[in-house]
Amino acid sequence: MTTPDLFASDTTPAEFARLSALRHVVHQHGHHYYVLDAPLIPDAEYDRLFQELQAIEAAHPEWVTPDSPTQRVGGKVLDGLAPVRHAVPMLSIETETDTTAQGAQDFDARVRKALALQEPDPPVQYAAELKFDGLAINLRYEHGVLVQAATRGDGETGEDVTQNVRTIGQIPLRLDGCDAPVLEVRGEVYMRRDDFEALNAKQREKGDKTFINPRNTAAGAIRQLDPALVAQRPLSFFAYGLGEVQGWSLPSTHAQMLDAVQAMGLPVCVERSVAQGAAGLTAFHDAVRAKRDALPFDIDGVVYKVNSLALQQQLGFKTREPRWAVAHKYPAQEMLTRLNDIEIQVGRTGKLTPVAKLEPVFVGGTTVSNATLHNLFEMRRKDVRVGDRVIVRRAGDVIPEIVGRVASSAAAGLAAAGLSATGASRPAPRVPYVPNFRMPHVCPVCGSRAEREKGGIDYRCTGGLFCPAQRKQAMLHFAHRRAVDIEGLGDKLVDQLVDGGVVKTLPDVYRLGLTALASLERMADKSAQNIVDALEKSKQTTLPRFIFGLGIRHVGEATAKALARHFGKLDAIMDASEEQLLHVPDVGPIVAQSIHTFFQQTHNREVVEQLRACGLRWEEGEPSEAARLPLVGKTFVLTGTLPTLSREQAKEMLEAAGAKVAGSVSKKTDYVVAGVQAGSKLDKARELGVAVIDEAGLQALLGGTAG
Ligand code: IVH
Repeated sequence: MTTPDLFASDTTPAEFARLSALRHVVHQHGHHYYVLDAPLIPDAEYDRLFQELQAIEAAHPEWVTPDSPTQRVGGKVLDGLAPVRHAVPMLSIETETDTTAQGAQDFDARVRKALALQEPDPPVQYAAELKFDGLAINLRYEHGVLVQAATRGDGETGEDVTQNVRTIGQIPLRLDGCDAPVLEVRGEVYMRRDDFEALNAKQREKGDKTFINPRNTAAGAIRQLDPALVAQRPLSFFAYGLGEVQGWSLPSTHAQMLDAVQAMGLPVCVERSVAQGAAGLTAFHDAVRAKRDALPFDIDGVVYKVNSLALQQQLGFKTREPRWAVAHKYPAQEMLTRLNDIEIQVGRTGKLTPVAKLEPVFVGGTTVSNATLHNLFEMRRKDVRVGDRVIVRRAGDVIPEIVGRVASSAAAGLAAAGLSATGASRPAPRVPYVPNFRMPHVCPVCGSRAEREKGGIDYRCTGGLFCPAQRKQAMLHFAHRRAVDIEGLGDKLVDQLVDGGVVKTLPDVYRLGLTALASLERMADKSAQNIVDALEKSKQTTLPRFIFGLGIRHVGEATAKALARHFGKLDAIMDASEEQLLHVPDVGPIVAQSIHTFFQQTHNREVVEQLRACGLRWEEGEPSEAARLPLVGKTFVLTGTLPTLSREQAKEMLEAAGAKVAGSVSKKTDYVVAGVQAGSKLDKARELGVAVIDEAGLQALLGGTAG
């Protein structure tokens, strides 16, 4: 991001003007972040502004005023929540923004200096833990009972959120084996990523606004005025420190203190360790960085604390922060950038996904220039348009996404302060929403009609395997490691093969000869041979892998396995009716219909046959017990006299085939078997529109052609 240099670099009036502008903007954004839990800019952007302000104040201490945003911890008591004065102030923690190993070394050097340690003295022992991205909470236990929970607020006074915190199942209302008159435990309330995703999925389903990130959602929830609403937000907690303590003897180290707190029933994160000196801290920082994406929750760094409580006391505090602790950050997972364009990507099932083309930005440890916008409705909800300043997020394995745009008021605020981060921001307010992007009515790849499913939100290309984009995706899916596993058949090769017209269908891939492959551009003979070998190797596969590889909508790995187990053989799956498919564990009507429709289509059956002809093979098994019974789940009613079977015989045969035989006709009845002199049951069946069959029809069903 370029910040226009409105002020000449070292003339005092210009620097002073910048200082006032920064104070104003930092104050505004601080309010949005701490008080409203609705930040307008990413945290990294806020940090940058805050640090610039700190730097000017450090150079000109005479300019520091008590009301500067740097002089307070941030946060303000909300109306509606009762204020709580902390017995022991909830301090802030110094942040080491150098995300390299240097950050840990600088901290260790400061500690050693403050403790007057010399070179030959042994390394300082530290407790290293994660820096959870949530909201700090003080839990006050008296005689082992939770009596109060409070937010940090401005550090001196927080808000009473006891009722809300009581809804968090992980937080014990009574401690195990501790009846100290006072024990205050401090820690972080946060939301797990999977809980956050599930919550947003629910919001989408309801057509409600989605939440931006787990941190703000957790912070917003805990300060709700209605505890019933809080209870619907899945919150979690980790303890990491103490507040006031009376009548409990402190252990000698921070690590032992955490163990003790854990033994009382409070959650303490397992990702913690005792580290020796700067080298130990650096190793911890590296190890956690490697795991960061796989953690089930967001962190924005790690925290180092001098382990010995005696040394902590000796080190003491600066104005706002202890000298014995530091937060060592990682690269931010949310950044601000510009939305340059929107392109449409066509997926395996033909789904058209709007993809944001971004001004490249370093986020979550890599440079990101594409991010998903999910669909038109998400775009509308987030109100993003080409040209906007947007917040891009990359956390965990999730593909980068646009979480929102920087509101024009924020943009205006920054601009007014001479800090224009807004580039091409549009001046006018955006009501009503006028998109400058439309979903196309034809597929951008193959030109087939694109249409929205009834009641659905996604647009799909109707070209099927005629569409090169879908064909490519289908091939990549089939070749996937968890499907048929064709090593080396990746993006680039598939692009080359399809775009060059070398392969049209999936079976064509298996017909590729060494010569055809070797004649491709940038393909060495050795690589061509490797592909040929990989194709050969992939032919010996398993039924679940093959089914999964076909890319039938709604059929993931688990469903593929269930289908294979239930039917045993591919032909049985291909010929199964929707009704029969419904007997497979976890297959519901939508999945059953999707499978049935897939195999009804001649070209799909041809693909399967050709693959078999190319030599693809797998072991087949016997159908499961449930699959052998053709009439499982069906209810029959018998009425009248059948020509050859007695009523008892018919009943036995039906039950042996898995059917239920009932005494009276209802809407739940699937078939009425009627003989001569059938009475009121037949009338009832006609009235309800229930299928009526005779003995021949019954025999046909028992023959296994149910459905
Ligand atoms: S210790 C005196 N440990 O980071 C030290 N804080 O300003 C008090 N945080 O909002 C903080 N993880 O909520 C500590 N393992 C951890 C932490 C942690 C996250 C938060 C804390 C506070 C901020 C520190």
